[in-house]
Amino acid sequence: MTFQRSLVTTALPYANGPVHIGHLAGVYVPADIYVRYLRLKGQPVLFIGGSDEHGVPVTIRARKEGITTQQVVDRYHNLIKRSFEEFGISFDVYSRTTSDIHHKFASDYFRKLYDNGKFIEQVSEQFYDPETQEFLTDRNIRGECPRCHAQGAYGDQCEKCGATLSPDELINPYNAVNGNPLTKKETKHWYLPLDQYQQWLEQWILEEHKEWRPNVYGQCKSWLDGGLKPRAVTRDLDWGIPVPVEGAEGKVLYVWFDAPIGYISNTKEVCDANPDKFGKWETWWKDQSTRLIHFIGKDNIVFHCIVFPAMLKADGSYILPDNVPSNEFLNLEGDKISTSRNWAVWLNEYLDDFPGKQDVLRYVLTANAPETKDNDFTWSDFQARNNNELVAIYGNFVNRALVLTGKYFGGKVPERGELTDYDHEILDEFGNIKTKLEDLLEGFHFREAQKEAMNLARIGNKYLADMEPWKLIKTDEARTATILNLSLQIAANLAIAFEPFLPFSSKKLRGMLGMPEVNWEHLGSTNLLPVGQPLGEVSLLFEKIEDAAIQAQLDRLARIKKENEEKQKEEELRNWRPAPVKEATNIDEFDKTDIRVATVLDCQPVKKSDRLLQFTLDDGMGGRTILSGIAQSYPDPSVLIGKQVLFIANFPPRKMMGIESQGMILSAVDADGKLVVTTVSDTVKNGSQVG
Ligand code: MF3
Ligand code: ZN
Repeated sequence: MTFQRSLVTTALPYANGPVHIGHLAGVYVPADIYVRYLRLKGQPVLFIGGSDEHGVPVTIRARKEGITTQQVVDRYHNLIKRSFEEFGISFDVYSRTTSDIHHKFASDYFRKLYDNGKFIEQVSEQFYDPETQEFLTDRNIRGECPRCHAQGAYGDQCEKCGATLSPDELINPYNAVNGNPLTKKETKHWYLPLDQYQQWLEQWILEEHKEWRPNVYGQCKSWLDGGLKPRAVTRDLDWGIPVPVEGAEGKVLYVWFDAPIGYISNTKEVCDANPDKFGKWETWWKDQSTRLIHFIGKDNIVFHCIVFPAMLKADGSYILPDNVPSNEFLNLEGDKISTSRNWAVWLNEYLDDFPGKQDVLRYVLTANAPETKDNDFTWSDFQARNNNELVAIYGNFVNRALVLTGKYFGGKVPERGELTDYDHEILDEFGNIKTKLEDLLEGFHFREAQKEAMNLARIGNKYLADMEPWKLIKTDEARTATILNLSLQIAANLAIAFEPFLPFSSKKLRGMLGMPEVNWEHLGSTNLLPVGQPLGEVSLLFEKIEDAAIQAQLDRLARIKKENEEKQKEEELRNWRPAPVKEATNIDEFDKTDIRVATVLDCQPVKKSDRLLQFTLDDGMGGRTILSGIAQSYPDPSVLIGKQVLFIANFPPRKMMGIESQGMILSAVDADGKLVVTTVSDTVKNGSQVG
């Protein structure tokens, strides 16, 4: 099948916060590189983006900030849209799922499937808050964890022990927002019977799309191997697109049902507004000669490879994705990026700190793209890639070629004489740059592709270093002219090769070279700049980033880490409850333990142990030594000297670190894990029994 046009979509980000480097690296930069490349090739392409403004996350954010949900999505939609513009993500449309066009489109989409009997209806019991009269979503239900008995576990997960939960498993579930106890209530929902699409999906993905990235194919396979089940496509919620069926009051379409339809409704929006430029929306979605490509992050794979295709198939009139190049995750300085923990580099903040340096971030994120595995963004790598690659190789080469031409040849492209064998060698080295880049870009290997482009700059840099035109000019002007001519031709190639990756720098470079047009087909040519062509004004393409700027970023992250740790401690203390009472026992059992009082004569840390304290006790019976693992709680153990403490006198002696311990000191465990030695409220004779 030869495709005539490409429809490229990017996951619609939730409008519940600004976008960060993880978004950019995982989805938007690779998609933008791909689209810019197709446009340079002159291929018809439509690039779709937009904000995902329904679902629970935006409503949670609204509650947290004390504003309406509409205000939340307005604020973040605008912020996100601006960030994408600033970073040169060249969408043909960036709309939103609260638009009228989308509401109507998604509603009609549901209704058509409903009318054609594509859903099953099912009544089930869900958690319900009788006071606020609302059904609760998993994330809005909290309670005691059935595994570790921590309080405040969520309906989908316990953050203390990491267990994956369902709200039904929680002990004493309550409404996370107001603390109300919950009851169960019956409610009706519509389900897409994914099980009915199982066979078809197996054939389509596992047989016909073996070329998908291994991470994508593998995830699909494991979902399919697990057996698909019907999925609810409606929710009891007051934020979203109303279910267009009688008797469905108070119900909306599930956000994962309406959001991907946003790709279609946004296409319709831009086509309806620009029919001359983009034609009919149906051509992009219903013509088999359109190639549909979804750029997403790995948490979206099941929705784009299984659920949405099943929705498209259920309708029956749509094309299916040809590829779903999903990335893995980008971490930040070793930790998972998290909006709620503020562990991220926000795009708007980056531009405040590094104005004009969009391409630097684009470059670093592509160089480190998590294409096959999770990757780490570190500020020191950011600095190194800027200083050692963009500045020292690409920028340095281009700058030398331009400045020397200005100095020796009046800023005009000089004549080229006969080429030497070495010149030919250099030219041969990048003769196949065009096919190389095309193969890599069309296979979605953006990181390798950018490496190839940088390699071209390396070749140029080496050529100048080897030829030393700044020395040669004294003896051989004609040869110098040839060398600079070739160097400028390489620079012009760089402007084309980097255009999809670093659009801002390419534009600047083209200005310096006097090269208004870019034509991908010319890539690899050594006749891009005619002799005598005047060059533009020369300025630096990239600037060194100093240590201080990097340190400021590291300091910011250290501050956030500290704040997070404090917040987590506070939260743990707030959620602390006494451990459940142990199984019943009786006085006879208890009596077997001989608890007594002794005065601490001395208390020292045990050498080479960061846990143990050595107590020397006056126990009224000739004295004894006891080791106790409470050193962490007593940085200065001398505070215990002179105190009367409780200890168990009839444990068999035990050797630790070469010292014999004759019993056990009794301590209480505080909520934060701190151990506090027990004592008596009045002085008693040492050796007195407790009971
Ligand atoms: N908002 C979702 C997320 O951030 C992505 C939605 S993609 C779409 O994970 F296909 F539903 F639009
Ligand atoms: Zn738990």
